[in-house]
Amino acid sequence: MRRAAPAHVFYNLKNIIMEYRRLGKSGLQLSVLSFGSWVTFHKQIGDSSADELMGIAYDNGINFFDNAEVYSLGESEKMMGRVLKKKNWDRTSYTVSSKAFFGWRGKANKPNQTGLSRKHLTEACHEALQRLQVDYLDLFFCHRPDKNTPIAEVVWTMNTLIQQGKILYWGTSEWSGVEIMEAHRVADQQHLIGPTMEQPQYNLLERNKMENEYLEIFKNIGLGTTIWSPLASGLLTGKYSDGIPEGSRLAIAGFEWLKDRMLQEEILKKAKKFADFAQKLGISPAAMAIAWCLKNPHVSTVILGASKKEQLEDNLKALEALPRLTNEVMEKIEKIMQTRPKLPEY
Ligand SMILES: NC(=O)c1ccc[n+]([C@@H]2O[C@H](COP(=O)([O-])OP(=O)(O)OC[C@H]3O[C@@H](n4cnc5c(N)ncnc54)[C@H](OP(=O)(O)O)[C@@H]3O)[C@@H](O)[C@H]2O)c1
Repeated sequence: MRRAAPAHVFYNLKNIIMEYRRLGKSGLQLSVLSFGSWVTFHKQIGDSSADELMGIAYDNGINFFDNAEVYSLGESEKMMGRVLKKKNWDRTSYTVSSKAFFGWRGKANKPNQTGLSRKHLTEACHEALQRLQVDYLDLFFCHRPDKNTPIAEVVWTMNTLIQQGKILYWGTSEWSGVEIMEAHRVADQQHLIGPTMEQPQYNLLERNKMENEYLEIFKNIGLGTTIWSPLASGLLTGKYSDGIPEGSRLAIAGFEWLKDRMLQEEILKKAKKFADFAQKLGISPAAMAIAWCLKNPHVSTVILGASKKEQLEDNLKALEALPRLTNEVMEKIEKIMQTRPKLPEY
């Protein structure tokens, strides 16, 4: 029987109940599952699939769509922009992001067309607004730290963009704990707004930032997190245990670097054991891997990636799987994966 829905939950597919968490200490509420376009939009799927997937996401209560200038060299933002325009959803009902750092011209990037200078951040923001066809970005990320730009320049630029109404919240992606704290120190000193959120990789294979490095920041600052690659690019579904399925991410030309990183005997063995365990419990491995991320209260939202409708529907079932991840199940997962970061004994 269905539970009665409090005001902040949203029903759609049978038994799927979306929940919303505040982004760190901010007032913004994001759906605990969100949807991103890296690799998939433009490289794997066209407008009609993007339309279908974003529709399923939105209809199931997802209110955050993630993007970046570098995804398919700007084409991913253009595709998302076309879908958003066609859907004509109430702009107040969803949030959309972009990220700047890598530029969108690939090898043709000139100086000032990458990085976090005031010039590139400002121009990247303007370009993202045009490609996404929106008047403001809800979230704007520094996609990587930039050793060549003073942190005060970054903090001031992001605050100017907020003042201009072009972005609402700013954050970082794959910054170290020290770099995030330095941004907060400068922001405090100058009475500016520091980064509200960080976008780190987080999954059963990559845990140190979320479970170790950022702990003091969660405690003292209240940082929000929009975590990426919950399935380690699909590996945690067990789909790569017997080779590389045709059309899957690790079969795409240009992703050899990811294939080399992921397809290691030890990792594949763990992924297979994890998938077998999930199936034994009657849970899909993808849903269990995503629900495992949601168990961490420092996760504000898990960004899903999907190249097919069936995958997205499977991944949404993480919400059903969540209550089934009891302490006993979590311990069994630890035993299989053995990836818990080592914390100091004291
Ligand atoms: N800030 C950053 O630096 C950064 C970096 C990476 C990603 N991100 C963001 O995070 C989002 C999610 O990352 P991700 O795409 O790497 O997430 P992921 O969940 O680790 O991988 C998604 C991929 O796994 C496969 N997959 C998904 N569900 C599946 C299922 N149920 N069964 C079998 N295969 C399944 C699909 O690939 P195939 O169908 O091709 O096999 C899908 O595209 C991105 O779209 C992006 O918005 C941010």
